[in-house]
Amino acid sequence: MDLRRAGGRVSRRARILVLPGDGIGAEIMPHAVRVLERACPDIELDFEYASIGGAALDSDGVPVTDATLALARAADAVLLGAVGGPQWDDLPMDRRPERGLLRLRSELDLFANLRPAILFAPLASASSLKPELVADLDILIVRELTGGIYFGEPRGVTVGNGGRRGFNTYVYEEREIERIARVAFDLARKRNGRLVSVDKANVLEVTQLWREVVTEVAADYTDVALEHMYVDNAGMQLVRAPRQFDVLVTGNMFGDILSDVAAMLTGSLGMLPSASLNAGGQGLYEPVHGTAPDIAGRNIANPLATILSAAMLLRYSLDAPEAAERLERAVAAALADGLRTADIMPQDGGSEVTRVGTDGMANAVIERLEEDR
Ligand code: NAD
Ligand code: IPM
Ligand code: MN
Repeated sequence: MDLRRAGGRVSRRARILVLPGDGIGAEIMPHAVRVLERACPDIELDFEYASIGGAALDSDGVPVTDATLALARAADAVLLGAVGGPQWDDLPMDRRPERGLLRLRSELDLFANLRPAILFAPLASASSLKPELVADLDILIVRELTGGIYFGEPRGVTVGNGGRRGFNTYVYEEREIERIARVAFDLARKRNGRLVSVDKANVLEVTQLWREVVTEVAADYTDVALEHMYVDNAGMQLVRAPRQFDVLVTGNMFGDILSDVAAMLTGSLGMLPSASLNAGGQGLYEPVHGTAPDIAGRNIANPLATILSAAMLLRYSLDAPEAAERLERAVAAALADGLRTADIMPQDGGSEVTRVGTDGMANAVIERLEEDR
């Protein structure tokens, strides 16, 4: 990010690469950009746009181009909608929209994926769980994002005498486990000092190594209480008593699954943001949800996961924690005033809430931002 002297005062500029993607990703993005523009008046944001996912397949024949990856590398931060959709589901695996996102994560080495699951108090009645189980819920899932079974080789489907055979490789190097563990321990140390590492060490050697390495790293963090949990139990505990968790650290696939589960505790998948960071401090910010083909194009998708991802962008990539908090306060205020997209309506229907669309929710956040100056 540049610091430039303009008329005697320091004004900051930042380059943001916007990758809207497909489905509700592309639908929400203009609203999220409107919100982000108003969230940090002190920083001049230069937005650049490029295609990814199905949109890039349609325009360029590949799910992400080298030119887009170069733009991402050069940007201060990347804000992404979501990729994928039924119209591209029959393509060979290496040409699917999702590969564009995986390549972006991998080539920028964005190994640390932070997925906070926080309950906004007014949404307790929208949670899948009883309100008393989720009151004040504040969990952080730290998902390893550039390794594990998502990227392991060999992979494929072959045809042999016994018929077709599909295979993937679940592999982690010690250094990959160690660096994500350190990120999780550092974050746990700044929070409540409790870390649960999730694995399947009773069955899979690769996660036996995961458990060993996390235990070794723990020696450098004697102020953090480390617990190990099998992934099946962790899934169960998340819906039984989620407040037992503070920070969870886990591999790529388990983190993918557990974060969708955690989302429903907060009311909706439409509420969960994420930040994917590399060792150099670069970041990709995207909602945890996908392109929601079942509701796309109807102005009913919840934009808050993307808007809250923009708040994470302010915090982690633009070093603007006050702007991030102001934006999070604006989201909380819009919810406190009873505004709800369809997915976060109270389970009982609720008489004191007002249903709004994607645009209405973004407008409400902008109004609360302007009031909080
Ligand atoms: P999904 O997250 O798109 O949707 C799951 C369910 O949650 C749907 O019923 C959807 O309507 C609802 N939902 C999701 N986001 C919402 C929001 N903001 N507001 C209201 N409701 C919301 O998952 P899926 O249906 O399994 O996948 C659809 C496509 O999205 C697939 O192509 C998949 O690969 C892709 N996907 C992409 C990402 C990403 O780009 N990061 C993440 C997940 C899925
Ligand atoms: C997510 C998504 C992606 C993943 C897909 C779209 C590649 O589900 O970000 O959670 O599995 O990581
Ligand atoms: Mn997912």
